[in-house]
Amino acid sequence: MKLNNTTFSENLSQVYDSCTTQEYYNMFPNSILFYAQQEINIKGSKVFDIGCGNGNLSAAMGILGASYVLGLDISESQIEIAKAKHPYRNIEFVVDDAYTVKQQPYGPFDLVTCMYSFHFIPNVDVLKAAFQNIYKNLKEGGTLVFLDITHDYKYSKAKMEQLKSLTSYCYKPNVAEGEIPKLWDLVPGYVTLPNKQLLVDHFAIHGEQLKETMLEIGFRSVERKPFVFHDLKMVDFFGPDGFNHHLFVVKK
Ligand SMILES: C[S@@+](CC[C@H](N)C(=O)[O-])C[C@H]1O[C@@H](n2cnc3c(N)ncnc32)[C@H](O)[C@@H]1O
Repeated sequence: MKLNNTTFSENLSQVYDSCTTQEYYNMFPNSILFYAQQEINIKGSKVFDIGCGNGNLSAAMGILGASYVLGLDISESQIEIAKAKHPYRNIEFVVDDAYTVKQQPYGPFDLVTCMYSFHFIPNVDVLKAAFQNIYKNLKEGGTLVFLDITHDYKYSKAKMEQLKSLTSYCYKPNVAEGEIPKLWDLVPGYVTLPNKQLLVDHFAIHGEQLKETMLEIGFRSVERKPFVFHDLKMVDFFGPDGFNHHLFVVKK
């Protein structure tokens, strides 16, 4: 099975950058920062942001005083945007693949963040490799704060329409109303722009699979956390019984 968009279409970089300016979007990086700060003091720490996109989260950690932030992304256009937006001395942005990335010379890191970058992963072997790469780049006792969309919701056409009106993203899993997309199935998706639609196909990863894989490769604890919600509407929509996203605080 293949994605129509091989990883993250280069065409999407500008679109995603503008999504991150929407008010609802702050809930995601803010939640990551909230839990990261419960675990470590970002000031003076070394941080690795995997699938950094436009670099906003990397930059937030730089501004909080991290001594070194490495933002990595497979997309050249995303890294170009990140470098242009955040030209700070303590932040470096590189093009690389999270599935094969090596141990970094300026690591190991106190904190790894990974936000919405693993839903293109096609099978458990690649998932394992990607988490192993995070593991080897983390210090003993270090923290991973991980967040991704997981396609283990019960499909509801009405809820999907709601997602589309909120975010412009829409997924069409091949399941009937009330059913859960099957693990690793292709989930076709698109984002609607004023004059066109761009493909954003995913694979159906389930939260339990993420947790199981992290524990299997050696992380000592994996805890699911709620978003730090900014309003009640969001609790209903992205909460544990709503559209499924998994935020994990993970310890090595
Ligand atoms: C939905 S965006 C999220 C960007 C950013 N983390 C954020 O939340 O604003 C997904 C990002 O993951 C990156 N990505 C996808 N596959 C990757 C891989 N194998 N290695 C590194 N980055 C990858 C994409 O290029 C894209 O920038």
